[in-house]
This record gives sequence, structure tokens and C-alpha cells, in this order.
Amino acid sequence: MYLLSQLLLFAVAAVDVLHVHGAPTPLEDSKPSELDRRIDTTSFSRVSTTSKRLFQLAGKTQYFAGTNAWWLGHLPSNQDVDTAVAHMAATGYKVLRVWGFGTTNDASKSSGDVYYQVLNSSGQYFNYNPSNGIARLDYAVAAAQKKGIQLILPLLNNYDDLGGINTYTNVYGGDHNGFYTNAKAQAAYKAYIKFIVNRYKSSPAIFSWELCNEPVCPGCAASVITKWASDTSAYIKSLDPHHMVSLGDEGWLTATSAGTVPNYDQSHAYTGYNGVDFQRNLAIPTIDYGTFHMYYDLWGYNASWGSTWIAQHNAIGKALNKPVMLEEYAVKDGLDRVGIMGPWQETVVKKTSVAADMLWQFGTVFPSGSRPLDDYAVYWNTSTLAVLGAQHVKDMAAKAAVATV
Ligand SMILES: *[C@@H]1O[C@H](CO)[C@@H](O)[C@H](O)[C@H]1NC(C)=O
Ligand SMILES: *[C@@H]1O[C@H](CO)[C@@H](O)[C@H](O)[C@H]1NC(C)=O
Ligand SMILES: *[C@@H]1O[C@H](CO)[C@@H](O)[C@H](O)[C@H]1NC(C)=O
Repeated sequence: MYLLSQLLLFAVAAVDVLHVHGAPTPLEDSKPSELDRRIDTTSFSRVSTTSKRLFQLAGKTQYFAGTNAWWLGHLPSNQDVDTAVAHMAATGYKVLRVWGFGTTNDASKSSGDVYYQVLNSSGQYFNYNPSNGIARLDYAVAAAQKKGIQLILPLLNNYDDLGGINTYTNVYGGDHNGFYTNAKAQAAYKAYIKFIVNRYKSSPAIFSWELCNEPVCPGCAASVITKWASDTSAYIKSLDPHHMVSLGDEGWLTATSAGTVPNYDQSHAYTGYNGVDFQRNLAIPTIDYGTFHMYYDLWGYNASWGSTWIAQHNAIGKALNKPVMLEEYAVKDGLDRVGIMGPWQETVVKKTSVAADMLWQFGTVFPSGSRPLDDYAVYWNTSTLAVLGAQHVKDMAAKAAVATV
């Protein structure tokens, strides 16, 4: 989802003097080290060996429902993080999608905001300030781990908020689309990946490393993103062979991969214009599972099309024998959310072998009084969450752990 993060209003935290480390060491080829071999990976999630279209979670092959909570590592207050995690755990969620990026070009303009990295003309700096730096993501990862919850961590944003592609191109040159092939930008992006992956790679609280939130390259050949996704995912596997890697895309299809070309397309969902070919990217050996998102109204479709989109991605997952995840789906507050999303969830549970789905997004009122001001949030302790959250979690968990369609 885009355009949401800047809507979050936090109480402004007191800002200490920024402590940064200098530019990271140059990239070296990494092979699994002695440490890697000693990591106890028995509780790590992976693609199931018994049913390759599903995940093994806490040692068990199962379908699951999770939720997005992009803000968890950007909350300045420990108490807010603990409360949010407690509410998500009480809903039954075992997997959350949380932003693993936070980049600014000018730390002096980030008053009170949490950020993990600064990119500017003098270098690349990681923010070790305990009140607004990487310590905040450390706290979120630890809080999740305590509750047996795992995180999907996207390492970049397509959009400008909180560390997007343009925070790289602003410094390393070129435009958004050029990012994918800009050697300097890619070196800095990989240095950031290395920083995050090495920090948490022994943690069982990581579900997967994700290349980017909703990467697109409008007007580009699909090969641009496929090559980038292939290189980057292989790089992550070289740092950490034990966790899964996902792309984080919206799952755009092409006329070929969707089968019949619909004549009602208003969003380039089927034209390939976005430079993303879901099927081609899912075939990359170092991408463990497919992701797709769904905003039927923003994309110009009706609600019932949602089930078609789900079935189309399920069919491609089946053809490639990999899990697929409906990683974001949402309907604005004020509409009949149970009436619209219920049938999609029913499609996932009863008519497909989509391995997991993740609601956009979880909402709660934090002890500090702030909350994610997002029109799509489904709030803790509401009847809507009881149905679309808690009940759906149960339905997915109860589904027999075998992929049938
Ligand atoms: C770049 O950012 C770092 C960290 O915030 C800062 O110390 C440095 O002065 C900045 N350089 C420029 C040229 O603004
Ligand atoms: C929804 O849209 C699809 C095409 O996008 C169309 O085939 C279908 O008839 C529509 N359904 C309703 C209920 O309008
Ligand atoms: C849930 O909501 C009800 C009524 O709005 C309230 O009385 C109750 O304290 C809430 N429970 C929690 C745990 O927030």
C-alpha cells in the first residue's frame, strides 16, 4: 500500500544527538560461516517439504492468516510496541509484515521520526541512536519473538515514504526506474541489506526477507525487475541461507500468465506495463514464494473481481509448485468490509491453495495515545476484526495442510 505511512501521527519523541557509524565496509563475497552452521534453525519457517505450496510454521505445515503492521519498528515507545504485539497475538496472528526500511537523505529534517539509515553526499550511515534508530526495529523483533510471532521484513519501499527508491537515486543519480540497474545505488542497497540481514539472521522471529514493498518499473521490460530480483535474492541467500526470501510485489500479470486477457483492465494489472511479471519472478530459484496484493477499487475493478485475482495467482503457484501469499488486501472503513472481504477470504479458504493471506492492516490505540491513522486499518476489539481477523485465523489454521487446487 502506498500513501499511508506519512499519515501516522506520533507523539514527537525527544531527539538525542545522532550517533552514526561511518560508511559500511565494502561488500565482500559471503559464504555461510561457522556461525551460520551453528544457528538452530529448527524453529525457522520455511517452505514445507511435505506440501511444497505451503509453509512450515513452528515446525508444522499449515495454512495461516497474518496481518500487516508496517509501523511496528517505527514506534518510539516500547510500551506501544508491547501493547500492539499483545493485541495482534491475542487475535491469533503468528506472522506480521513490518517495514524493515527507514531511510532519510537529511537526518536534520527527521525530527522525532524513527529512521535506520541516512544516505547523503558524504556517505551511507546507519542510525544507532537508541531512541530513534535501529534499536527500535531490534525492539520490535524481540517483542515479536517473545510471543512466538514472525516478521516479514521488506528492505526497501517503492514509494517515497520512509526510505523509498528515490532516497537512493537522490544521492546516486538517475531516476526511479534507473535504480534497478544503477551500480552505485545497488551497492548501497546491498550494504543496507547486509546490515539488516546480518543483524537478525540468527533470529527465529524472521519469516522472510523481502526485496521491496511493491516494486515497479513502469514502461520497462519485465526482464529489468526479474534480473534485479534474481541478483538481490541470491545475494540475500549468500548472507543467510536459512530464511526465506520474497519479492513483495503486487503480483502484476501479463496476458500470457493470466490466460484470457480481460477487456476491463484499468490498472495495467494484465498488460505488463508495470514492469513486473509475477509468473516470471516466481520462477526465480532464490525467490521462495510469490506475493500479490489486491486493491480492487483503487485499480478500477468491482469487488467480485477480487476472487478472480486470487484464483489467477493460485493457478500460477500451482503451475510452478511454489506457495503464493495474498500479502495485502483491504477495504476502506465505512464500506461493508465483512460483506466485501468475507467472500475473498472464503475463496482463499475453500476454493484455492493460497498458502497465506495478510490483511492490510492491523490498528490499535497505543498507550501513548497515537495510532495508525489509516482508512484501511481494522481495529483491535471491534466486531469487524473478530470476523476478518480472529475467525479467519482459525479457519486458515483449521484447513487441512495439503494443497489440493
Ligand atoms: C550526512 O549525514 C550524516 C548523518 O546524519 C551527517 O553527519 C553528515 O553531516 C551529512 N553530510 C552532509 C553533506 O549533509
Ligand atoms: C465485475 O467485473 C467483472 C469484470 O471486471 C465482470 O465480469 C462482472 O460481471 C462484474 N460483476 C458485477 C457483479 O458487476
Ligand atoms: C473492548 O471494547 C469494549 C467496549 O468498547 C470495552 O469495554 C473493553 O474494555 C475493550 N476491551 C479491551 C481489551 O480493549
